[in-house]
Amino acid sequence: MSSNNNPDWLADDSQHVWHPYSAINSGLPVFPIESADGVRLKLSDGRELIDGMASWWCAIHGYNHPVLNAAINKQLESMAHVMFGGLTHQPAVALASKLIDITPEAFQSVFFSDSGSVSVEVAMKMAIQYWHTKEQPQKQKFLTVRGGYHGDTFGAMSVCDPVTGMHSLFANSISQQFFVDVPTRGFGETCNDDDMQPMQAALEEYGNNIAAVILEPVVQGAGGMRFYSADYLNRLRELCDEHNALLIFDEIATGFGRTGKLFALEHCEITPDILCLGKSLTGGYMTLAATLTTNEVSQTISNGEPGLFMHGPTFMANPLACSVALASINLLLDSPWQENIGRIEQQLKQELQACTTLESVKEVRVLGAIGVVEMKQPVDMKTLPQQFVDEGVWVRPFGKLVYLMPPFIIQPDELSILTKAIYKVISKI
Ligand SMILES: Cc1ncc(COP(=O)(O)O)c(C=O)c1O
Repeated sequence: MSSNNNPDWLADDSQHVWHPYSAINSGLPVFPIESADGVRLKLSDGRELIDGMASWWCAIHGYNHPVLNAAINKQLESMAHVMFGGLTHQPAVALASKLIDITPEAFQSVFFSDSGSVSVEVAMKMAIQYWHTKEQPQKQKFLTVRGGYHGDTFGAMSVCDPVTGMHSLFANSISQQFFVDVPTRGFGETCNDDDMQPMQAALEEYGNNIAAVILEPVVQGAGGMRFYSADYLNRLRELCDEHNALLIFDEIATGFGRTGKLFALEHCEITPDILCLGKSLTGGYMTLAATLTTNEVSQTISNGEPGLFMHGPTFMANPLACSVALASINLLLDSPWQENIGRIEQQLKQELQACTTLESVKEVRVLGAIGVVEMKQPVDMKTLPQQFVDEGVWVRPFGKLVYLMPPFIIQPDELSILTKAIYKVISKI
């Protein structure tokens, strides 16, 4: 970066500030951002980048949206925050009601928390407390599939892929959970008994100790960007019922339209017992997550011993976050979001197809507004981000995956710039 783009605070950043999955003084580039508007990020040197990441899949309406800005400004006039213990406010209740309205009827209660990881912790604790109340306190373990990602706190981390989640690093601190192999049937395929055999065997062997099965429905996101059979989830529901395990869906990445349905669970014919939402819940404006559950789970916990659910974050149901979340959901539902996602899906399919001709590419796959180019080898994060920036786009690969999850408002010409940049940059690998 030239010196006029490198003010002193950038040196401070490098020396003192951790970034996600980073080292202090790593020498890896970080790009200073001045502002963001629509699908464009503006760097401090004035260059504009078309955003292919939606800020880790959250900014579904793009940036600086007048409706979302207005929601926050209006809420600011009355209060930015107030504790949620013993007090309540309209933004939280209105948002909870909205979430109950737009999710399957079974979900009747909502627990707000600060981040996706915490909403997963909450889901896991709900499952444990449920079985405790049912006089099965030995049911404290979780079963999941390899290749998942559920967050970075200890409970959430314990159900992330053991290898990519580096469980060995935290071996004496992390709970040991049960894992089966990634589902092999692809999206749109049906499953047979053989496909379910690993899950069935694990539930038969360890079911007595399993509080819940947790997974990301249909799309494994940060664990590998894999799409798998919705029928696997239909059959999993039956197995969970047979073996007295709750079913938790983590829709933190897939919720709010990303896969072409409002929630990925709509690709299947069943509902889980607990549902985690986060990321695009606030349209990417503020950090907020929600764990939804059924009357059966919430009433059991509430009526049992100790008669309360053991979790209560300081910033629970922050009014600014709840207000902007409600505005974001209404904005989404009032927009032609299905058309937008369908259009993005078709264009990604057409334009990323070219990448399949490259020697370095293993596979291209697209579902909804998710376009993935899986490389044969991990990409070089020292050089690739800079190359994308030089092409005028913001694309941040991880491992072998170069992918796009753009804001839903992206226009065809802007999306083409992203897909062309991907082809151009990876064709040099
Ligand atoms: C499916 C899933 N669950 C949980 C999380 C963790 O969310 P957060 O980063 O908000 O803690 C993520 C984040 O990428 C995710 O994709």
